[in-house]
Amino acid sequence: MILPVVAYGHPVLKKIAEEITPDYPGLQQLIADMFETMYHTEGVGLVAPQINKSIRLFVIDAEPFVENYPEAKGFKRVFINPEIVEVSEETWTFREGCLSLPDMNEDVVRPSKVTVNYLDENFEEHEEELDGICARVFQHEFDHLEGKVYVDRVAPMRKMMLKNKLRNISEGFVPVDYKMIFPSKRRR
Ligand code: NI
Repeated sequence: MILPVVAYGHPVLKKIAEEITPDYPGLQQLIADMFETMYHTEGVGLVAPQINKSIRLFVIDAEPFVENYPEAKGFKRVFINPEIVEVSEETWTFREGCLSLPDMNEDVVRPSKVTVNYLDENFEEHEEELDGICARVFQHEFDHLEGKVYVDRVAPMRKMMLKNKLRNISEGFVPVDYKMIFPSKRRR
């Protein structure tokens, strides 16, 4: 089932998401719905808070990046209760986008490599070193679980310049071809 995506400004995107246990109700269906929603919206990652569930779960499929970033090959994962174990000192600037902020992209600086620990959909534990676009997408999604979106990481001056655009997004004045939940929809 394709689920509506919560837009920027919604309180669920500002909350620190809760860890889950294997008995979380309907978990496998939820994961399937999240993949379906992510493919439908042409995203490469989707976190549970973006579908209005404040839990530490996200899905990634970085395949669309494979042409320019070979490390994306086969990088399709479910991340449950993920942790960042280590980050590189070296950073990388990349133009990010987010399904909760349609029609917008901004440069974000992040560590270029991360070592991460997480549970997969079967609650098996993994530790993995991620590089390039895989490290990038992981960190973007991980931020969501901490109540942050990527615009929180752009320079304050730049963010000020984006103020009107961000308000328009939260009020539903943005071109988008998938279903969204807007936190403060104005009458047109
Ligand atoms: Ni996002």
